[in-house]
Amino acid sequence: MNILSIETSCDETAISVVRADGSFPNATYTILGNALWSQTDIHAEYGGVFPALAKREHIKTIIPMYTKALAEAGMLHTRTEPPKTPLDTKRLNEICNHEEGLAEALAQLFEDYEKPAVDYIAVTNGPGLEPALWVGVNTAIALSTLFNIPVIPVNHMEGHVLASLLEDGALASLAFPALALLISGGHTEFVVMESWDTYNKVGATRDDAVGEAFDKVARLLGLPYPGGPALSKLARIARERDLPRYTTLPRPMINSHDLDTSFSGLKTAVRYAIADKEIQDDDRHSIAREFEEAVTDVLLAKTHTAVDQYGIQSLIIGGGVSANTYIRSAFQDFFAREYPKLKVHIPEPALSTDNSIMIALGGHAHIKNAYQPSETSQIRADGNLSFAK
Ligand code: KG4
Ligand code: ZN
Repeated sequence: MNILSIETSCDETAISVVRADGSFPNATYTILGNALWSQTDIHAEYGGVFPALAKREHIKTIIPMYTKALAEAGMLHTRTEPPKTPLDTKRLNEICNHEEGLAEALAQLFEDYEKPAVDYIAVTNGPGLEPALWVGVNTAIALSTLFNIPVIPVNHMEGHVLASLLEDGALASLAFPALALLISGGHTEFVVMESWDTYNKVGATRDDAVGEAFDKVARLLGLPYPGGPALSKLARIARERDLPRYTTLPRPMINSHDLDTSFSGLKTAVRYAIADKEIQDDDRHSIAREFEEAVTDVLLAKTHTAVDQYGIQSLIIGGGVSANTYIRSAFQDFFAREYPKLKVHIPEPALSTDNSIMIALGGHAHIKNAYQPSETSQIRADGNLSFAK
């Protein structure tokens, strides 16, 4: 089975073609084609992602990502004769009513290329930036209409969970109950999984997400967007040089006896620490380190609590912030030492941040037994879509 997957929830435009052999969760996956365009350079100028700008960029790049992924998969075939069923321009315009220029690009695609050899189209329908999500969703619906391929809406966060489990082309076997710690630009959630499809949220941030905190503190330190990787680099330098501590930051809610977090105070604390001061490069490095360690201390303490409280047998860490090397090794070291039997699943760095391979996995998770694809008219982008109750 071949799945074409589309991800446009934030500032990555990504399309892949993934072949699944076998049924979920015991299938093997082969990435036939994978195309990803990151808009971060465009957003860097403004220090954050602007939804309208993200939408415009997605519209511009989504068809090139489609042709790139399909060409890589050897599935992009130029038409040798005109399509049997003519293009329904009116319908296409209706679908892409709010995405200026998309209907025309899709019409051209339909004129140029044959139906690809894919069985399903999986698309992120939330959570994320709604105008950005709609570009992916409407592209999926349009492709479905043009080529008669069913669409499976996929929750972005479920995609992150599954991406963490992909090892050598198969999903790791999972001991339940499992705990997923999802840390990204928009989310910080503790989710308990009793089985492959039961997700219960047991804790979350009360204000900023971890990635958001990284980005905001990075900005205070004069670093470009997205701040996470840049800040992490400074922190590493501070560790390597063993720089003295510039300031001590709080570990918010570390003793709160629940699984909620709060990170907005950290950003405020950094702001106060540097206000009216001329900070030097070394100070910046040192603050970055202290911030990274404060965040890690809190996440580790909360995860430890959750593991005990729910008798957790395996731990999944997912979302963009799981690309952070310090956090990765802090978790690996702690659990290897304290809970040697607990398996810790962390995605390979390329699959930590947003991508479409994880959406193909999410789509495959839904194609079980007699899956009835949704009526495309029922599929809606939902910025606040939740998958864990
Ligand atoms: O999952 P993701 O790609 O997009 C969302 O769904 O939000 O996560 C993006 C977030 C950004 O806030 C980015 O700064 C952060 O992940 N991030 C990192 C690192 N790489 C990405 N944060 C800390 N360290 C990193 N190495
Ligand atoms: Zn994400």
